[in-house]
Amino acid sequence: MRLYRGSGGMTMLLLQKIVGVSVVIWVTVMEPRAAGSANGKLKSATFLSPKFVLGPGSVEDKYYFDIDFPRGHVALKSFDAEVVDEDGIPVPLHQTYLHHWVVARYHAPLHPQSEDDYEFARNSGICQRHSLGQYYGLGSETRKTATFVPDPYGIEVGNPADLPAGQEEKWMLNVHAIDTRGVEDRLGCTECRCDLYNVTQDAYGRPLRPGYTGGLYCCYDQTRCRLRPGFRGPRRSLYLRYTVAWFDWDASILPVDIYILDVTDTWTAPRNSSEQGAEEHHCRVEYDVESCNQATKVDDLCIDSKRTSLALPTGGYVVYGVAHQHSGGLGSNLYGEDGRIVCSSVSVYGTGKEAGNEAGYIVGMSTCYPQPGSVKINDGEILVLESNYSKSQNHTGVMGLFYLLVARDLPSSVQMQRNMALPRFGGAILTFLGVVIAIAVGISLKRRKQREEGYESLMT
Ligand SMILES: *[C@@H]1O[C@H](CO)[C@@H](O)[C@H](O)[C@H]1NC(C)=O
Ligand SMILES: *[C@@H]1O[C@H](CO)[C@@H](O)[C@H](O)[C@H]1NC(C)=O
Ligand SMILES: *[C@@H]1O[C@H](CO)[C@@H](O)[C@H](O)[C@H]1NC(C)=O
Repeated sequence: MRLYRGSGGMTMLLLQKIVGVSVVIWVTVMEPRAAGSANGKLKSATFLSPKFVLGPGSVEDKYYFDIDFPRGHVALKSFDAEVVDEDGIPVPLHQTYLHHWVVARYHAPLHPQSEDDYEFARNSGICQRHSLGQYYGLGSETRKTATFVPDPYGIEVGNPADLPAGQEEKWMLNVHAIDTRGVEDRLGCTECRCDLYNVTQDAYGRPLRPGYTGGLYCCYDQTRCRLRPGFRGPRRSLYLRYTVAWFDWDASILPVDIYILDVTDTWTAPRNSSEQGAEEHHCRVEYDVESCNQATKVDDLCIDSKRTSLALPTGGYVVYGVAHQHSGGLGSNLYGEDGRIVCSSVSVYGTGKEAGNEAGYIVGMSTCYPQPGSVKINDGEILVLESNYSKSQNHTGVMGLFYLLVARDLPSSVQMQRNMALPRFGGAILTFLGVVIAIAVGISLKRRKQREEGYESLMT
C-alpha cells in the first residue's frame, strides 16, 4: 500500500516537501495555529491517485471518482500535488508533462442506481455549467505554487446542512498527463498540436472545428504524440500524490467562496446598472497565441495581452489569488473597475533539469495574500482580467485562468488579533520569501530575454 496518512500536519509536510518555498510558508503560517492558538488542530494526509501507465508519447486523461479525501465537516487549508513514480520519486515535467489535474466535489446517492447517478457540487462560478466548476486545479506549476488559505479562513466542505437528503459528498480527480520522452517536438506535444497527434476528430468522434490546430480536443485520453523515428522507451506506472491539509470545522473559521475566472469568457458588461450581462458566460478555457512579425519586433513588445471583463455575483474581500498559464505565459493581472490591481500573478520558469525546476516550463505561479480587508471587490464591480503571453513563437491551447478566494466577512477583532500575533520571526521569513521570489522573477525575466528564439530547453 502506497498510502501515506497522518495528522498533526507540520512534521508530515516538512518530511514530504523537503525542498521548496512551501515549507517556509507552512512553518510561519500554520505553526501559530497548530500550536494551539485556535480551537482546532491542523490535520493533513497524503494520498496516491489510482495508478496510470504511460509510454513515450502517450496521453492519460482519466477521471477518478470517489478518491481518498478528508471526510466530515471540515475547512480545507491546502491541496498540494505532484506526479511520482512507483518508488515515490517525483517525475520531471520533461518526461511526464502534467497538463492539469482537477479536483471536484460531487453528491451521490447512498445507494446509487447507476454509475452516472451523481451531481457535481460546483464552486461559486462564474463560467457556464460544466465548465471550470472545480475546487482545486493546477498544471505544470503545481510544485511551486502555494495553495494554503490563510487563517481564519477556510474552504468549507462536508457540511451536512448542505447535503441533499439521502446523498453523500464525494470527490473526483481528473489527471491529464502527457509522456514526452522521445517525442519529436516537446513543446508541440505539451501544447497538444493536432498534427503531432495525427488527430482530426475529438474524443467523441466529432470533426474538429475549422482552424483548430491545437488544444485539449487533440490530446485526449489514449492519443499519442509523434516520436522521433526509432525511439523506444519503457512504459511506466505513475501516480498523482496529493497532500490535503484541513481543520475540523468550528465557528471561528470564516468560509471563502471559490471563483475561477477565464480570460476567454465572452460575457460582456451591462451598459447600465439595471441591465443584466448582455450575454451568458461562455468560457472556452483555451486560446491560441500567434507569433509576432519578426520585422516589427524591435518597436513592438511582442506580447499577446488578452483581456476580458467580468463581474462576481457578489463582492467581498480577496483572501487568495493565483493565475494559471502555460509555457510562454508572462503573468496575469486582475484589475478593479477603477484600474487598481486586485491581484497580480506572475509565472516562474524553471532553470534546471530536476523535478520542480525544469527549464522552459512554468514551475510555479506567484500568489496574492492581501492583508485581511485590504483588497475589496464591490458588489457588481466590473473587473478586468488580463493574461500576457510572449509572442516569440506560436502557441496553441494556452490558458488564462484566475483562481480567486473571496470572503464575505472580515475577521472579528479577536480573530484579527490572533492572526496579528504571528511571531515577528514569521514576518521576517515572509519578507525574506518575498525577496527570494523577487530575485527568482528577476532571473526568469532576464532568461526570458535571452530566449528570444523560443523556449529552447523545451525542445531538448
Ligand atoms: C494518421 O491517421 C490516419 C487516419 O486516421 C492514418 O491512416 C495514418 O496512418 C496516421 N498516421 C500516422 C503517422 O500514424
Ligand atoms: C501585460 O502587458 C501589458 C501591455 O504590454 C502591460 O501593460 C501589463 O502590465 C502586462 N501585465 C502583466 C501581468 O504582465
Ligand atoms: C503561426 O500560426 C499562423 C496562423 O495561426 C500560421 O499562419 C503561421 O505559419 C504559424 N507560424 C509558424 C512558424 O508555425
